[in-house]
Amino acid sequence: MKRIAMRSDSYREFFKAEYMMGPNCLRLLDEILECYPLQYTAENKALDLGCGTGVTSLFIARETGATVYANDLWIAKENNGRRFADWNMQEQLIPMQEDANEMHFEKEMFDAVISIDAYHYFAGKEGFFADKILPYIKRGGIALIVIPGIKKEYEGRSEELLNTWAGDDSYMFQSTDFWKRIIGSHADMEEVRTWEMSSFDLAWQEWFDTGHEFALNDQSFYEEMIKPFTNFVGIMVRKKQ
Ligand SMILES: C[S@@+](CC[C@H](N)C(=O)[O-])C[C@H]1O[C@@H](n2cnc3c(N)ncnc32)[C@H](O)[C@@H]1O
Repeated sequence: MKRIAMRSDSYREFFKAEYMMGPNCLRLLDEILECYPLQYTAENKALDLGCGTGVTSLFIARETGATVYANDLWIAKENNGRRFADWNMQEQLIPMQEDANEMHFEKEMFDAVISIDAYHYFAGKEGFFADKILPYIKRGGIALIVIPGIKKEYEGRSEELLNTWAGDDSYMFQSTDFWKRIIGSHADMEEVRTWEMSSFDLAWQEWFDTGHEFALNDQSFYEEMIKPFTNFVGIMVRKKQ
């Protein structure tokens, strides 16, 4: 069956082991931005939280027009800074290296906080969103998050079902209902939505195609564990005006 064209099709040069750190983050980002389109100018600021090598930051900057603060913990900001200069995007992409648990931005600074395949590493605690993320979002702003999860029917069984593949990280695979609960509510939060994303096969296949050694290991568990039990969870939070 023919696939409908996506904006990320024109980012194929980044679908490589050099840039990818898991299932194709550009497909997942593209899908969530199709659901919640953002149109900004360089005056607007977006935070790419857990940006990895910064390819998602590039996509956000080019496709929304915002200035993007590209923040990651494991990747040195100097490395991302070099990449941004190579891409001639140093005006619009600002590399940062801060722990999501202790960020030092101005309050209500960001029109959007976007996080692809990273939020589950640090935010699976009740109150985290309201305490650590919400204060940095402008009134009327939005958070768009995508993380790997477990299908509803297997909720609570991730450690039993995924352990041989995901080991100590198995507990991070949680359902859409879990994430809705964990994001919680707050007087400044207008809407919270969680749902199952659709780019599952494509994002995984293009990760396998990179030939990265971790991708090849993931591929050996795909039919037996990853495909039957897991999904990608989309999360949208809108802050009140
Ligand atoms: C699987 S990688 C995904 C990177 C990128 N978003 C992508 O999809 O290619 C997860 C990222 O989460 C980031 N991360 C993990 N814990 C973090 C924390 N406490 N604060 C900020 N970033 C964190 C890591 O630095 C890592 O780059």
